[in-house]
Amino acid sequence: ELSPIDKAKFVAARRSVDFVEDGMRVGLGTGSTAAWMVRCLGELVRDDGLRIKGVPTSTRTADLAREVGIEVISLDEAKWLDLTIDGADEFDGNLNLIKGGGGALLQEKIVATASDQMIVIADAGKEVETLGAFPLPVEIIPFGWQTTKSLLEELLINMDVLGRDAKLRMNGGRPFLTDEGNYILDLHLQRIGNAHRLSMALNQIPGLVENGLFLDICDVVIVGHGDGRVETRN
Ligand code: A5P
Repeated sequence: ELSPIDKAKFVAARRSVDFVEDGMRVGLGTGSTAAWMVRCLGELVRDDGLRIKGVPTSTRTADLAREVGIEVISLDEAKWLDLTIDGADEFDGNLNLIKGGGGALLQEKIVATASDQMIVIADAGKEVETLGAFPLPVEIIPFGWQTTKSLLEELLINMDVLGRDAKLRMNGGRPFLTDEGNYILDLHLQRIGNAHRLSMALNQIPGLVENGLFLDICDVVIVGHGDGRVETRN
């Protein structure tokens, strides 16, 4: 028996695979909601003979996809994708997102941007009026990371945000490492007034590789509820 939150994630994931058609190249997101979607797709491949090629956004997702029988190819082999299905940490009324709670934001953003369509699957608790309550992850390279952090903190003073705390993400006493061998800073901003301006400014900082704001990338959000209801936003 699933908890209400897992049920919400599951029903959103199950609905999302209705968008997948035979022969598609599909970007496979990362996180617990995306994992449900990968399992549902695996079932369709096994039981219904669905033929797809999957491009995973993390080693975790690649492992799971292979385990459930999905053919995995690299983005360079695929070149372009028909569809990406991924989770999110927050979404707003314009379908803008914060992603990267699972640390896979860089590959997720590259894959989503290379797709004709991006579908997000999320439980209803992730919907917000204004992005920023969830700490915004930014991926930075380890070289000179403290200098990068200082530049970042200086930049935040001139941005329309409430909080300014940048915390190095840790994993058992050491810095958390992304699939690309980089670090993550989690920015506790509380409220992001101008997400487009912030995103562009962040990506100007040398050493900062990418940020977790996904703006004008997502086409559809499938929202799951704990009682099994599903809504679609687009
Ligand atoms: C991974 O880097 C994130 O962008 C995930 O999409 C996000 O953390 C959602 O994860 P859950 O589905 O586990 O909430």
